[in-house]
Amino acid sequence: MAEPYDLLVIGSGAAGLTLALSVLAERPQARVAVLAKNALSEGSTMYAQGGIAAVLDATDSTESHILDTLSAGAGLCNPAAVRFVVENGRRAIEWLIGQGVAFDREGSAYHLTREGGHSHRRVIHSADATGKAVQTTLEARARESGAELFEEHIAVDVIREKLSGDRLGRCVGAYALDRLGGGVKLFPARMVALATGGASRVYLYSSNPDGSTGDGIAIGWRAGCRVANMEFGQFHPTCLYHPRAKSFLVTEAVRGEGGRLLRPDGTRFMDEYDPRGELAPRDIVARAIDDVMKRLGCECVYLDISHKPAEFVTSHFPNIHAKCLEFGVDITREPIPVVPAAHYTCGGVVTDLSGRTDVDNLYAIGEVACTGLHGANRLASNSLLEGLVFGAAAASDILARLGEVAPPPELASWDDTWVTDSDEMVVVAHNWGELRRFMWDYVGIVRSTKRLERAKHRVRLLLDEIAEYYGSFRVGNDLLELRNLAMVADLIIRSALIRRESRGLHSTIDFPAPDTIAPPQNTILVPKNFSARRVL
Ligand code: FAD
Ligand code: SIN
Repeated sequence: MAEPYDLLVIGSGAAGLTLALSVLAERPQARVAVLAKNALSEGSTMYAQGGIAAVLDATDSTESHILDTLSAGAGLCNPAAVRFVVENGRRAIEWLIGQGVAFDREGSAYHLTREGGHSHRRVIHSADATGKAVQTTLEARARESGAELFEEHIAVDVIREKLSGDRLGRCVGAYALDRLGGGVKLFPARMVALATGGASRVYLYSSNPDGSTGDGIAIGWRAGCRVANMEFGQFHPTCLYHPRAKSFLVTEAVRGEGGRLLRPDGTRFMDEYDPRGELAPRDIVARAIDDVMKRLGCECVYLDISHKPAEFVTSHFPNIHAKCLEFGVDITREPIPVVPAAHYTCGGVVTDLSGRTDVDNLYAIGEVACTGLHGANRLASNSLLEGLVFGAAAASDILARLGEVAPPPELASWDDTWVTDSDEMVVVAHNWGELRRFMWDYVGIVRSTKRLERAKHRVRLLLDEIAEYYGSFRVGNDLLELRNLAMVADLIIRSALIRRESRGLHSTIDFPAPDTIAPPQNTILVPKNFSARRVL
């Protein structure tokens, strides 16, 4: 067996790189490996637009950011997690600036933009491509940090130590498939962190890159971690509507800077749905757009910022301007056709405030985790913040514990001598398409029990078929992602059926209002092999 790593980080977005860099800053001699299933930069972080929410202005306050987060979360945030993240917000931003991230300035101060649900301007940004500034800077630091970086390596599963009988112990590493032909490799490690991002690609239309297939949520679940609040998938209200645009996001900051939502006949509608108009939290805006589209039978609505001076628009939104021009829309002169698309996974692997999961020595940070920050609905621009704060928190915890954790025992290599190469990849391609379509049609923005039951039936059939396929053929990237997507779809549907009310992002016509009698409850799913200490 190869020499074990001190820390194996699965994922190279804002959360994973913050963790790796923070550990190595304190302990340069530590052996840290980072896996990325594509290129290092190919996660959601790279595509983030609007910015990062933090209390940075003298007229703003921690209490106000906390209240806005709790209010968006519709009664399900963990107040301790909210306070923890908000109080550490400034430090996270200062750390990023120290790493070299260049945020936009206005005179001597940083420019802060506004997004839905925020009662202050508090979103620090780098024009409309904040994620690119964060990702490229952290990646550059990571390349010089001493971390061993494994691109094109997709984690299959984490490994737990075998104890006497059937009992499983701590996490001791992972198996990962080298997508460039190196087979499945063993990565033994004292500590492992899931930083694999979200699962929004479970839906047909999504703002996310192709890799957001919920791998870490499925891996955590299979390893014995509880998973919570999976019914709260966030749909971003405004993605460019064009057959070739692949749901390109048009940042909420466009509305923050005065953008108006219009029906096809040019009339505004948001004031009819919420007194905050275009700046209502995005679940409300997404549902309003869905409603308008269904009532009018139109394919999209429009987002208009053309009443602002052209120079203002191109300086604040240079990338959106350029992208829309590629598709023949000049946003300085005409409204942008937009539709909602799946954007963010509020639920995930249950963790405590150090990023610890239910399994010893296994952490989960960033979008893969359910820390209690978002509750039933994430406030805009709170997610990069969460990844940064929990990346740093997990680093502190890991640094404090590294010395006391014994190296892993001898571990077996991956054995695929008894399987063959697939001769029917069409099965994977078909199932992939079917899954994402019924999730969109049956488990989308507005749900019903009947549609959820249909989806439950379909996903069970797919899970059986995929299990059979997985047991018979050599694993490949698409099969691994499909297996994870189907598992996550099942967790979403089960959670949605448990919630017999509408709350936050979960809206169902059968229970159209929040339950006002029982106190709000998280939906916590417990895997069969759950055996660990409880972290929440
Ligand atoms: P990611 O950045 O998604 O990184 C996941 C990493 O895990 C990748 O490196 C990937 O290769 C790797 N990975 C996944 N599975 C495996 C596997 N099985 N094996 C190995 N590696 C794996 N949030 C904000 O706060 N502000 C914004 O302005 C904002 N804008 C957004 C705009 C868009 C278009 C999108 C898609 C999201 C936006 N978000 C925004 C959300 C935010 O970008 C993400 O929630 C955040 O970047 C997630 O970071 P992460 O580190 O958890 O995961
Ligand atoms: C956006 O820029 O609209 C996305 C912000 C977010 O997802 O937090």
